[in-house]
Amino acid sequence: MTETLFTFIDSYQNFIRVWKDHVPAYIYDHEQPVMFDPGVSAFGPLYYRKLLETVSGRTDNLFLLLTHSHFDHCGAVPYLLRKFPDAKVGASIKAAEVLQKQSAIALIRRLNAEYEKEMAEELKGEDTSFSAITVDLQLKEGDKVEVQGGKSFQVFETPGHTRDCLSYFFPDSGVLLAGEATGVPEGDFIHSAFLASYEDYVTSIEKLRTLNAEALCIAHVGILTGRENVQVYLSQSLQATKEYREKIERYLEKFQGDREKVVETITAEEYDLTPDHIIKRTPFMINLQAKVNVVYKLLGT
Ligand SMILES: [Fe+2]
Repeated sequence: MTETLFTFIDSYQNFIRVWKDHVPAYIYDHEQPVMFDPGVSAFGPLYYRKLLETVSGRTDNLFLLLTHSHFDHCGAVPYLLRKFPDAKVGASIKAAEVLQKQSAIALIRRLNAEYEKEMAEELKGEDTSFSAITVDLQLKEGDKVEVQGGKSFQVFETPGHTRDCLSYFFPDSGVLLAGEATGVPEGDFIHSAFLASYEDYVTSIEKLRTLNAEALCIAHVGILTGRENVQVYLSQSLQATKEYREKIERYLEKFQGDREKVVETITAEEYDLTPDHIIKRTPFMINLQAKVNVVYKLLGT
């Protein structure tokens, strides 16, 4: 458990959160605008309207930047590309590969389908379907990308949540967009998101701490501001990561390495006992299975 309850806000300088059901996208409202992580496909029309409202007349050079290739971070990109055919997509080299793979596309479509079904009436038959994404700007650690209007952002590879995670840092404003690389806070708990690698996840958070960001745009939540707050959050996120690994280890021991039983038990305790969540049950379980697998492998059992 964490000790501090953090406050998350909607906008900081010219970074704006576009909010729907715990799946925010972020807009960098600049001469050359950027939208980060336009997630769930069914939210495409909302992201579109918000872009028109915020950066009207400047969408010719729109960037769509992805922190990673999960369905709730890239799902609305094909819809937005149908609306803004000249927009350029940026993501890691690994994400570019994933977003062309039929198996990944099928999974992204499946996880988005639940939202599309729920929102069918609101969408009025509009096609928000997901399809393969061609990544125009394949980014890697150390890249510095200039945006029109004399600004730039730095690219950091921050694997651990997935292998294809990138974080973006704007040195002029001190704003860091890290997707889920730094965990996801919910109340007084920080969900650790080491789905691909525990060690990489910890190393990535430690790397991001050295940036001394003034603000952190966090997936599924909002913007945390204040250099000290960001530092406290990142150190608590590291602590929560260690504690969650230990929790999984204890359950693996209790159930003698039965990973399925561990997932079932933690889902019942953490998810089913409370009504509201920032994530749907299926992706929660997929994520938990991945974390249990990561810890299982670490134990070498
Ligand atoms: Fe994710």
